[in-house]
Amino acid sequence: MKNLENEAKRVLLGNWKDGFSVPCANLYPFQWKWDSGFIAIGFAHFDMDKAEKEVATLLDAQWDNGFIPHIVFHTKSDTYFPGPEFHQSELHPDSSKKYKSTGMTQPPVTGFVLEEMYNISKDKPATLAYINSVIDKVYHNHQYFYENRDPHQEGLVYIYHNWESGTDNSPIWDDIFATMNPPHYEFTRRDTTHVDASERPTNREYDHYLHIINIAKEHNYSDEKIAELSPFLVQDPLFNSMLIKSNEALINLYKMIGGNDDKIKQLTEWNTKSVHSMNTKLYDENLKVYVHYDLRNNKPIPFITSSSFSPVFANIATPEQVEGLVTVMLDKFGGEDKYLCASFDPTNERYNPKKYWRGPVWVNLNWMLYRGLRKYGYSELAERVKKDTIEIVEKSGFYEYFDARKEIHNTGKAGYGGGDFSWSAALLLDMLKD
Ligand code: GLC
Repeated sequence: MKNLENEAKRVLLGNWKDGFSVPCANLYPFQWKWDSGFIAIGFAHFDMDKAEKEVATLLDAQWDNGFIPHIVFHTKSDTYFPGPEFHQSELHPDSSKKYKSTGMTQPPVTGFVLEEMYNISKDKPATLAYINSVIDKVYHNHQYFYENRDPHQEGLVYIYHNWESGTDNSPIWDDIFATMNPPHYEFTRRDTTHVDASERPTNREYDHYLHIINIAKEHNYSDEKIAELSPFLVQDPLFNSMLIKSNEALINLYKMIGGNDDKIKQLTEWNTKSVHSMNTKLYDENLKVYVHYDLRNNKPIPFITSSSFSPVFANIATPEQVEGLVTVMLDKFGGEDKYLCASFDPTNERYNPKKYWRGPVWVNLNWMLYRGLRKYGYSELAERVKKDTIEIVEKSGFYEYFDARKEIHNTGKAGYGGGDFSWSAALLLDMLKD
């Protein structure tokens, strides 16, 4: 284990760029929102100063309306498409004057990341003082979500782009893309010069991704216009679970800091409503899991993904619901020939064990499931998720995503996408230290 720990630290230090980290060299040369949170958890174990800087740098790119972008373009780079010239965040009147960024966001991890940092810290007063200096920005970000991304006041915020989900090319989006007919754009992909094209989305899929951004740009990234016009508008159980987990963390941290009663009250109100809607609107009684909801076309998207289990991470599900989730996870994802937890239902015809979010195992989802299952008392299954995660990394390296099929890890290449991937290192380190 010692070696794996040292290796994880080596990956993190190698991707550190003086103030922030890249998810991995070449493929992702900037700072990504949810990556930076997971990375900070890893650094907190051996270099709290870097953990604090990582989060502070992300928050420094926050817009005046509380929005935090999904990519902050700290440097120029021609190894990535689409870059700042395509996204044009400056179209939005509230965008950062200091940094160029995208005009879309990613899952709100920063709240619970601060709490993790506090729990890991060996100097609690110093870490709490740091948290006190940044926490209001995170609160402002939650306020942005509830005030701008919840048009029917349900306590469920929407995402307007598949890249906002973090699960970029999941089969969940296929039917939404089928309702669109985007133009064929002229562009040069950069990702497929770094990674085998069979492990990445297709060009036609990229047309859809770019088209949604162009619609948002035509309206200067106005939230109101996006809610009205975007062909992609989804309530995502993973995204909302992380928001709920972060609400809870902010409440705990504000209580430790003292005062702030108005914010605690508001966070509690938001959270109560969100948990209720997760368990009514996003819980599928037949499938016995949480599903995505297509807000544009007004219908649930009845597919089972690793996101379907993510509410265990945020104390949302009742014990009965967790029992159902665990049964589905073991039946469909947990056969003895497989590592937990595939990102998409292995029994579904859309499952692809090599292609990004259409099937492979991701360390960040495993980390959340491990934590959640343990909390609900499913220690044996939690240990299996942890053991599986350690084993795939031990066998195949710190890749971005992994084949769930055990035999592939014994016979050939089973780690896919970028190598020396930061959050795989950071969260593995956290599991090893646990
Ligand atoms: C990919 C992933 C996304 C991640 C980004 C940077 O786009 O799908 O979740 O944040 O890479 O690692």
